[in-house]
Amino acid sequence: MRHFLEVDDLTVEELQHVLELSIKPDLPKVLDGQGVALIFEKPSGRTRNSMEMATVQLGGHPMYIKPEELGIDSRETAEDVVRVMAGYHSVLAARVFDHDRLERMAAADAMPIVNLLSDRAHPMQALADLLTIEQEIGLSRVGKVAYVGDANNVWRSLAIGCSMLGIETSVASPAGHEPTDLDLDRVLTSGGSVQVTDNPREAVEGADVVYTDVWTSMGQENERSERLDVFSPFTVDASLMGVASASSIFMHCLPAHRGEEVTDEVIESPQSRVFPQAHNRMHSARGLLSWIIGETTNHGQ
Ligand code: CP
Ligand code: NVA
Repeated sequence: MRHFLEVDDLTVEELQHVLELSIKPDLPKVLDGQGVALIFEKPSGRTRNSMEMATVQLGGHPMYIKPEELGIDSRETAEDVVRVMAGYHSVLAARVFDHDRLERMAAADAMPIVNLLSDRAHPMQALADLLTIEQEIGLSRVGKVAYVGDANNVWRSLAIGCSMLGIETSVASPAGHEPTDLDLDRVLTSGGSVQVTDNPREAVEGADVVYTDVWTSMGQENERSERLDVFSPFTVDASLMGVASASSIFMHCLPAHRGEEVTDEVIESPQSRVFPQAHNRMHSARGLLSWIIGETTNHGQ
């Protein structure tokens, strides 16, 4: 039984294989007649649509389930939910507030669990990010991937994914929102190098990719005004892009808070790849689902 709660749940070879599957035309319909349960405790545009369409493209039936219908840990335990869903669906994918809930679901060991974003990680996003870097620059050619802003779920998965593929990264965050030692250990264990700074220009200097995400993630809305203050020197604007490599690209997982973490000018510039990146969510979701079903089938579960 394999799960995908963070990018390093895959080996390097498996990560490369998932990225290859993501661009393969005419993948076998491995989900023929099967269901994929999609649970969202928070809103979603890209993740829900890309997962639903990837499921359909593999011959399966996506089922969107509102959290209040399941009542995870109120109506019944997370473990019981998974053991019941395993009778109807081949994969359970969930967007949750608390990453521990996903770990408990995986520990029930009844069906493959996929993380659609938690407070800690956003590995499905990182797959699309790596696919975009491969298409736009080449994973073997890319130099530094710079991340500016909150060292959050999106940063964590991106940094781990890059590190696994030997890609150098940098991260510039304000004090209090920088990577923890535990984060850095996990990124470095994956094999790569990471430059940590509180100076965005230092992080972006010579970078091939400049990446940012919102300063206030879902669930942190009550910290918004304080965060706006602390993060204000971390906006990715044209002047900051000016210190990156001349051929650099701009990336963002979206949704963007224009005028906060990125200016209109940068997100609308020819360097911006945010829409191909968003579209890649469907292709990488297809790759991941193909792989996880292959693993389940090949191991006779
Ligand atoms: N990038 C991302 O996960 O977008 P949604 O929150 O719209 O799914
Ligand atoms: N860091 C953001 C990502 C949204 C896709 C959040 O967790 O809300």
